[in-house]
Amino acid sequence: MNAKITFFSVGLLAVLVLVIGIGIPSTNGQNDCQKLLARNMDKQTPPCDDFYAHACGSWYGGEYQRNFGVHDARSLWVAKLKEKLIEHFESATDEECQLGTFYRKCFSDLGSKQSITSYNDAMVGSGANFSILGHNKSDNSDWILANAELRTYGAQGLWRLLVQDNWQAAEQKIFYLLAPTFQLLGQDELSEFLYERYLKVLLIDMRVRVRKAQEWAKNLVDFEKSLQRLLAVDREKTLVLREPQTLLKLEEQLPALQLRKYFEILLRDMDWDASTLLVAVDMDYLQSLQRFLRSADREILSTWLLLKLPMHFEYKMHADEKIMNQKDYWVEQLRKLLPGPLGRLQMELLLGENYQEIYDNSIQQVAILFRDLKLQFEALLNETEVFDYDLVTRTMAREKLRAMRLLTPRLQDPGHSMSTGPAATPLGGSCDWNMMQLSRNRAQQELRQVMGEPAAVSHAVDPLVVNAYYRLRLNRIELPLGLLATPLLQEPTCRTEAERRVRLSAGLGYILAYEMVHAFDYDGINYDATNGQWPPRAIIRFGLRAACYMGARYTNAAININENIADTEGLRLAFETYQSRQDNNSSSTSQPDPELWKSFFLVFAQTWCGKSMDQDTEYPGQYSLHASHQERVNNVLANLPEFAETFQCKAGSAMNPVAKCRIW
Ligand SMILES: *[C@@H]1O[C@H](CO)[C@@H](O)[C@H](O)[C@H]1NC(C)=O
Ligand SMILES: *[C@@H]1O[C@H](CO)[C@@H](O)[C@H](O)[C@H]1NC(C)=O
Ligand SMILES: *[C@@H]1O[C@H](CO)[C@@H](O)[C@H](O)[C@H]1NC(C)=O
Ligand SMILES: *[C@@H]1O[C@H](CO)[C@@H](O)[C@H](O)[C@H]1NC(C)=O
Ligand SMILES: *[C@@H]1O[C@H](CO)[C@@H](O)[C@H](O)[C@H]1NC(C)=O
Repeated sequence: MNAKITFFSVGLLAVLVLVIGIGIPSTNGQNDCQKLLARNMDKQTPPCDDFYAHACGSWYGGEYQRNFGVHDARSLWVAKLKEKLIEHFESATDEECQLGTFYRKCFSDLGSKQSITSYNDAMVGSGANFSILGHNKSDNSDWILANAELRTYGAQGLWRLLVQDNWQAAEQKIFYLLAPTFQLLGQDELSEFLYERYLKVLLIDMRVRVRKAQEWAKNLVDFEKSLQRLLAVDREKTLVLREPQTLLKLEEQLPALQLRKYFEILLRDMDWDASTLLVAVDMDYLQSLQRFLRSADREILSTWLLLKLPMHFEYKMHADEKIMNQKDYWVEQLRKLLPGPLGRLQMELLLGENYQEIYDNSIQQVAILFRDLKLQFEALLNETEVFDYDLVTRTMAREKLRAMRLLTPRLQDPGHSMSTGPAATPLGGSCDWNMMQLSRNRAQQELRQVMGEPAAVSHAVDPLVVNAYYRLRLNRIELPLGLLATPLLQEPTCRTEAERRVRLSAGLGYILAYEMVHAFDYDGINYDATNGQWPPRAIIRFGLRAACYMGARYTNAAININENIADTEGLRLAFETYQSRQDNNSSSTSQPDPELWKSFFLVFAQTWCGKSMDQDTEYPGQYSLHASHQERVNNVLANLPEFAETFQCKAGSAMNPVAKCRIW
């Protein structure tokens, strides 16, 4: 109760301060919330011709566009969040804040003081006799040890070891052993050239003479190209993983790779057993690798492995970039290495001293929204013709919906140690050292998950992701922290409760509903975690209705169909939920307010202002699962009769086509 009062009074206070501060109450009857909407609009374009252009015609990413690569409304939210963090790090003198310590250390070290010695020492310290500083020959080095040691820092060597959900049962994490990605080497001459040059820089920093560094860099590239050739063309994409095997079995099939020793090094402080530890592997690659290593040059192999460590930490890779990009880079590192503390700091900066209370309150709002959407959707499932004479499937669908969960992140306790690992280390060292410590802690935690320890950091904690996810196998929607820090939830500029509700419903409500509908798109009905596949009759009826989303209005329809379904069905669900919550309230008038409906459609459209990332590429839309922002907005709204009614679009006009798609 207390929390609620605080939340609203903070909102009210903000509005009061604004009004008093400016000195003139809004004159033309618009409140601040509407002004925000109006700012992006191009009223010259009639809403019935092209609503996206009408709603977003004046949208502009401003200086953010140049500095943070902002291209649309969502990337602008992220840029603003980052900017707040950077401002804080640069102004704070607070020595207690380890995030700031990390940032300042790295930012000031970059280019000048970053030192390769740290990485070399780390490898030497591993006992692998692993050094080329001072031209040591690496004949005695132990590549098996080095290959494993790399992974304890989160880096990958001759193969990639991932910790992922088991393909059979999502609850269980297992190890995956896959081929490397060869990301820096790439596939063409230019990337190869750049990579060779980068290797040369690394070697020179290790005090190898220029001529020799040049020669070695070439050898290293050749070595990596041979590794790359072990992969059949494009297999990475088509790889179907086989059933997981025990480590014991693998060890028998691949003796030269000494996988047991590899895992012994990785899991040295943990309880495990080679006869039960499960690993899913890319066997073709590992077998080719085993053959290849028989004749590989040891010195080059060792040097290649040694350089993987600084490369993993992108040593000096960003030294030439603009200052702004470098700042961005270090915030991204914090996001990766310390997402929990970063998320908490972000909420504190955004919401002020009472951030915990305000945050808890907004989470509660989201939970209510989720509950209302579920009820509304359930009513649709109860009535849909898709399940006529098919009570069993109707019940199945209802149960799936009822079982759906919403995962919202909890803010990390400020008393919690800043470092994420059990052996928390204060960040006192150089930038390189700090990075290695944090990365090591993170890798440890990840490995421990296979032993059944819960993840310290779930996906949802990410403070800079402004998307939501539906996880099919878990039947769960995840809302990352970043999304909950956006104006969708945290903008107290609307003066009336009614305006606030419109914003919440058309913004976050749409996103939640969109994810919810993914549980009932083509993938959703064909893979049902609890019930298996739907019977054919229901699928056919579903398909007959879904066919509308293949119509001429949709480009790339076959690829985008699930997204298009979720878009329209989701917005309609959000809209109908908004409406019915309103109708249910005796305090509101029974007539819907057309201005509020207009706001609803504008708020939705404006979450899509700008261009999607791939719109600027050579093949627009081709690699995307989503249509362009413009197409999305216009197609979705054109499917809603209430939209045409609100803006009085003539039948057959662009935004009021005859064929309107509706499945549920
Ligand atoms: C490191 O080198 C020394 C001397 O060359 C050798 O005795 C030792 O066994 C080597 N250690 C490993 C782990 O290979
Ligand atoms: C590298 O060589 C130097 C002498 O040249 C020696 O002192 C050092 O122990 C060697 N390091 C390793 C890891 O073999
Ligand atoms: C849907 O139908 C079931 C079974 O008749 C009923 O229990 C439930 O209350 C209905 N849900 C809604 C939201 O109408
Ligand atoms: C409508 O209001 C009644 C009484 O306040 C409540 O019991 C009911 O759950 C509400 N319906 C919806 C859909 O919110
Ligand atoms: C309905 O009105 C009551 C008070 O009249 C209010 O507490 C409640 O939040 C309103 N519900 C919605 C969904 O706005």
